[in-house]
Amino acid sequence: MTMNEIERALRELRLSGIADTLSTRLMQAQCNQEPFLETFACMLQDELDRRRSRLLERRFKHSRLDERLGLADFDWRFNPKLPRQACFELHALKFIAEGANAMIIGRPGTGKSHVAKAVAYQATLQGYDVRYVEADTEFAHFTLASPAEQASLLRAWVEPDLLVLDDLFLARRICDAAAELLQTVVHQRYKHRRSIVVTSNRVVQDWGKYLGDATMATTILDRLMHRAAMLEFEGKSYRLKEAASRIALSPTADA
Ligand SMILES: Nc1ncnc2c1ncn2[C@@H]1O[C@H](COP(=O)(O)OP(=O)(O)OP(=O)(O)O)[C@@H](O)[C@H]1O
Ligand SMILES: [Mg+2]
Repeated sequence: MTMNEIERALRELRLSGIADTLSTRLMQAQCNQEPFLETFACMLQDELDRRRSRLLERRFKHSRLDERLGLADFDWRFNPKLPRQACFELHALKFIAEGANAMIIGRPGTGKSHVAKAVAYQATLQGYDVRYVEADTEFAHFTLASPAEQASLLRAWVEPDLLVLDDLFLARRICDAAAELLQTVVHQRYKHRRSIVVTSNRVVQDWGKYLGDATMATTILDRLMHRAAMLEFEGKSYRLKEAASRIALSPTADA
């Protein structure tokens, strides 16, 4: 076989990880006078690496997360009262296997969404099926969708191992259809012991107001909080800090 034919055969066999590095590995083998098995092992590793990174990419896309965040880039000194230990506990993901939830509630800009996204991203890396939902936007989208689309969205929110409902009640009161959707999702996931992480800057005592129904708020909270870690985020807004440093850096700041 010529080199071209080998490359074609590798692609036909869906071994593109090997095909992409073939010429490099060949050169390496010739330069180093490597034993065949050593070169072959490198090529197999190339294929395994390629498959793993594709799988992670697919899982990340499927989660609908918009960024890959971690806890390593979080500045714990900025708001020293944050429940750091509880955040790392969540990041360890044991709560997913236990079917427990997490409620991250507190002041705007304190990093609730950041921590929730970091936990969700870590879950995708560990092989969990994750769905990240910007609550207000997607509730609005749901209420305008056709019945078939609604059924498929509902499945997408009920079936994953982990659902993140980010920034719940950001736009204050949600409409009745959205409130019912939230109730259905929470009930279904509770029944199947599937985890939810909620972030909100609205204290749970006020949820009745935002749902427009106090009884519904109680039934939702009852299930959400039955097996849940409660994380309170007190402190200053990091957004304001960033805005302040931008102003300080701007060339017109002293003008
Ligand atoms: N302690 C921190 N260290 C580093 N970055 C932070 C920290 N806290 C917040 N941020 C960053 O500040 C921005 C705002 O944080 P985030 O969106 O997580 O806040 P939030 O608590 O969800 O606010 P809101 O209630 O308004 O939704 C994000 O870009 C986040 O990465
Ligand atoms: Mg947020």
